[in-house]
This record gives sequence, C-alpha cells and structure tokens, in this order.
Amino acid sequence: MAPISVRRIHHVGIVVEKLTRAYGFYRDTLGLPLLREVEIKDQGVRAAILGALESEIELLEPMQAGTGVTRFLEKRGEGLHHLCFETEDVDAGLRNLKGSGVALIDETSREGLAGRIGFLHPRACAGVLVELATPPNGSHPDASPLRLKRVILGSQDPKDTAQIFQRLFALPEQGMNDGPRTMLGVGRGALLLVPAHEVGGLEGMVALSVVAEDLDAVSARLRDTGTAMLSGAGELTVEPKSSHGVHLHISRFD
Ligand code: CO
Repeated sequence: MAPISVRRIHHVGIVVEKLTRAYGFYRDTLGLPLLREVEIKDQGVRAAILGALESEIELLEPMQAGTGVTRFLEKRGEGLHHLCFETEDVDAGLRNLKGSGVALIDETSREGLAGRIGFLHPRACAGVLVELATPPNGSHPDASPLRLKRVILGSQDPKDTAQIFQRLFALPEQGMNDGPRTMLGVGRGALLLVPAHEVGGLEGMVALSVVAEDLDAVSARLRDTGTAMLSGAGELTVEPKSSHGVHLHISRFD
C-alpha cells in the first residue's frame, strides 16, 4: 500500500473520570488553555480539548454504560487512550487502508471533535488505538505554555512496531543510536518506541513528553499544588496519580 501521509500528532486522547477534576491538573496547574468542551452523544462521552501548540490534549469523560470509553475506564482506569494523526483527506486514507486489508473501526469518516475523523482497529497498529483526522480548513495551533513533543510507546519488539507505523504512515526514523529504542518523526513531534521491559512491562501508549516555555513556573505550580513528581536534571516527571493516569515528562523548550 502507499503509506498515508500524516502532518503532525493532532492530539492524544486521555480517559478521565470527571472532566471538572481533570481541569484542576491539565488547565489550572499545567496551564493548558481549554479550547472547547462538548458532549458527543453517539459516543457517550463528554470531551474537552486543551491546546499544546502543534498538538492538543483531548480529555474524555464517559457519560453512559457500555461504551468503549466506559469499558476502558473500568478495566484500565484513567490514562492514555488513543493517538490521533492529522492527514489531508481522512476518507482517502481510510479507503487506502481498507483496500490494503488493514483492520479499521471506521471505514468512512464521521464528524468528531477534531473535524472529520476515523479510527483504525488497535490490532492494525500493534495494540495502539490510532485515529486519523482532517480538521476544518483554517484551524491553526493556539498559544500554549507547553508543547507536546513525544508520545512514548512500550512494545515487546520496538523495531517491529516501528515498521508497522512506517508502513502505514511513512514516518521518518530519527537519529538514535543503535540501541533497542526507535524514534519516528511526526511533524515537529515524535513517537518514541521503547522495549516494554524498560517501562514496567507496559505495552501501548505509556507516557508523554512535553516541553515548557517556562519550566520554572510550571515546576513552581506543580510544587504549590502538591503534585506527586520526580525531579531529574532539567526534567520533571509527574506521577500518574497526580496526572489522571499519565506518566508526564516535562522539560525545557528546545
Ligand atoms: Co480523538
């Protein structure tokens, strides 16, 4: 198949119990601007979009029993749920994938928070739930004190998982030494594939890396609000219990 051309990580989706509680961390402590909040009735969720420069953070609160997001919350608790790539023509992309026998949840696009969207089946991308989106014309990144830099994926076989993502989306491999890790560029962002044993045996989306324009200010707010975190050299890691299930690495703008 001809790979689907993707421009950037449009957003990552995080399932939370209550949007109002998650705002306390993502909007008030981290300082991400809340761009919109809507109820998506046919999905049984209430969703909020927060800006992280080229990318967005999508928070999802389940509103009814029996939906995918509700089952995710019951089974796994709060945390990283899906990854969305922006592409120029989501329907052409889905047709192309379907024609190549790639497992899909949506064979044609539907209206979603990010514009026209469609989901691949997780088995198509080594267990990662991937969404494709074509946002409306003229939408552009909003100002934000943080930029999403990397999505970290745990994998039993990072090279094999990288090949799957490259075959589907032609993501360029970025300079890494010959170790077991692999980095794939997506616009200014990246996917970092790491062996599952390095991340507590976890597979799929395991962490996010963001860069802060003013790391000292973010770090002071995290401290003042009693956020559970580890401080390293030039980097903070917020523990999942304080960030609604998400390992969050924060470093300085590069
Ligand atoms: Co989404």
